Amino acid sequence: MNDKERVAKQAAKLVEDGMIVGLGTGSTADYFIEKLARRRIKEGLRVNCVASSVVSLLKAQQLGLPMIAIEHLTELDLYVDGADEVTAEHTLLKGQGADLVKEKLLARASDQFIVLVDKSKMVKNIGDRFLIPVEVMPFAWQLVKQSLKQFGGHGALRQNSNGSGLAVTSYGSLVLDMAFEKDLDCAELDAILNATPGVVEHGIFYGLANRVLLADKGTVQELELEE
Ligand code: A5P
Repeated sequence: MNDKERVAKQAAKLVEDGMIVGLGTGSTADYFIEKLARRRIKEGLRVNCVASSVVSLLKAQQLGLPMIAIEHLTELDLYVDGADEVTAEHTLLKGQGADLVKEKLLARASDQFIVLVDKSKMVKNIGDRFLIPVEVMPFAWQLVKQSLKQFGGHGALRQNSNGSGLAVTSYGSLVLDMAFEKDLDCAELDAILNATPGVVEHGIFYGLANRVLLADKGTVQELELEE
C-alpha cells in the first residue's frame, strides 16, 4: 500500500453512519472513494455522497456509492480531498485539475474538511512548488491579468494537456497560472483574488481545512496546526 492509499484508508475510517460525504478529485481522492465504497459493502455503512467532478462521480457510481447532485445539496458533513501544496498553517493550494469551483464550494459548505496529503505536498509558502491557478471568465482573462500586475502578478493561460489549445475547466472557464513577486501572505493574496472582478475561483484554500492527514513513509499522522 502506498502513502496516498494509506492516508485515504485512515480518512475513510472517520466516516460515520448516515453522513453526507463530499468526494474530492485526484489520485488520493480516488483511493478514498475506493476505501469508502469498501466500508459500505463490508460494514453496511450508510452514506450519501456528492462529487466534486465527473471523474469522481463516475468512479463512485461504479463502486455503488449512492450519489446526490450538488444542485440538491444545502449542507454536507464531511468533505475529503487531496491538495497540491499544504503549509504548516493548513493553507492549501489546489486546482491542478479542472474542478476548482466545485472543490472549493464543497470545502466551504462542509462541517468538516479533511485534507489528505503525503509529505511531498508540504511547503513553507503557498506557490513554492506550483503556480497559483486563477480560474477566470473566458472574456476577462486579459483584464484580470492586467489587474493582478499591480500586486506583482504575472502568468499565462494554461494550455491543455496535449498543447494543442487552452485548458478549459469543468465550469467552462480559462485558467491563468500565476506567480506573485510582491511579498504577499496567503491571507492577502486570498483577499486580492476574491476581490478581483472576472475571477471565478482560485486555488488558495485559506482557512478552510479542518484537519490535515499526512502520510510519510508508511505512517499517517495528523498535522498539528501552527498558528
Ligand atoms: C484537483 O484539482 C487537485 O486539487 C487535486 O486535489 C490535487 O492535485 C491532488 O491530487 P493528487 O491526490 O492526485 O495528488
